[in-house]
Amino acid sequence: MADTTSREELQSIISIDRVSNWLEKHFGRTVSVTKLKYEDPPQETADYVLSDIVAVNVSVENEGADQVNLIVKLLPNDPFSRYFVTEAQFDLREIKFYDEVVPDLLQFQKEANAVIDLPIPKCFYSEYNVAGSELESVLVLDNLKHRGFHSVPFSTGLSLSQCRVALESVSRVHALTLAMKHKNKLDLDEKYPFLFKTPKATDSYQQLVERGLPQLAAFLENKPGLENILASLQELRPRTKDTIAELLRPEDPLGLITHTDFWCNNLLFNEDSSQCMILDWQMICYSRATNDVALLLVSSLSSALRRDHTQSLLDHYWQHLTDHSASLGLRIEEELKYDRPQLDKDYRQSLLLALLLCIGSVDVALGNPDTEQRLVDVLQDLYDQGVLSGKTE
Ligand SMILES: Nc1ncnc2c1ncn2[C@@H]1O[C@H](COP(=O)(O)OP(=O)(O)O)[C@@H](O)[C@H]1O
Ligand SMILES: [Mg+2]
Repeated sequence: MADTTSREELQSIISIDRVSNWLEKHFGRTVSVTKLKYEDPPQETADYVLSDIVAVNVSVENEGADQVNLIVKLLPNDPFSRYFVTEAQFDLREIKFYDEVVPDLLQFQKEANAVIDLPIPKCFYSEYNVAGSELESVLVLDNLKHRGFHSVPFSTGLSLSQCRVALESVSRVHALTLAMKHKNKLDLDEKYPFLFKTPKATDSYQQLVERGLPQLAAFLENKPGLENILASLQELRPRTKDTIAELLRPEDPLGLITHTDFWCNNLLFNEDSSQCMILDWQMICYSRATNDVALLLVSSLSSALRRDHTQSLLDHYWQHLTDHSASLGLRIEEELKYDRPQLDKDYRQSLLLALLLCIGSVDVALGNPDTEQRLVDVLQDLYDQGVLSGKTE
């Protein structure tokens, strides 16, 4: 279990005074907080190192008593994780997403006379402080679990309809950033210098892959019949860094802002799974749309669903991407000369990046027979399709 901040420390960081201050800034009026109740932390997972998440129930005394349920996202307490996060500015990136990108997207759609709800929690407050300063970075979000949203365990994976809804959600952010880029003639990397830049992102992912590959190799060595896959992975090893750099690089005309950590643990669904909210915008890049699609399908779908439905899921994503873009005044096929067959080609390339990212957090999959088998199936399929050996067609 991750080394989380102690309750006493929490009470000093998330004090009644500070919470009152956050809410006052948000609501623009005096807010009197009478009680804070710290809730149990959300479910721990092996990947749970990039932040310390605190759920707090706030009682507010106004004309009538009121309750606000907050998620407070702090730097991880564990020193190694904290260094990893601050060095690569994961905290800054997510704060800037809520503070700069989101308002720009809202403004852009207003100008385009379109209404595309952003599938993200409301942000109450954010503050960025460089590592080592007295106060640490903090992001305060609406706790969606109190609005009937729930997560889907990684071991179960998404249902087909959940996967479709998740792709529709991310297509909104993709369409908005793509249309804003083209209509306003923006260089997204220049406009948002905090985006995870290809060289920096490559270094971070490469570090993870270097840690994950030996773990995966040790696991595969004990499995008969997987010798070819193991050999392909060993062959890929000296090329992983170049491969990551190449596949993260945005490719026009469809370069846009990707979530880049788009797997089921960063998603929340409402009760009937008709809505999907996307969390954890720490890794946003100016990159390729299919990177998000591929990571979701490779990491978070059962093998049966992935094998039977990849094409229809890509159709579904494409339909929403093009529809949302059209509502923002951008006709992707006509204006960008990018079509559905091209999406297939890009998807195929993104599969390799998705696999490398899964290898980078392979500890999430190892130890559970279902998720281990899912990973072996992905490796087998990508091997059979020639993706592991880097064949482009
Ligand atoms: N706004 C929110 N509402 C409800 N739960 C949340 C919210 N934000 C985060 N969580 C919970 O905390 C977990 C970790 O949050 P996340 O932003 O993904 O942090 P990390 O960077 O540590 O992965 C999520 O998987 C989810 O269970
Ligand atoms: Mg997360």
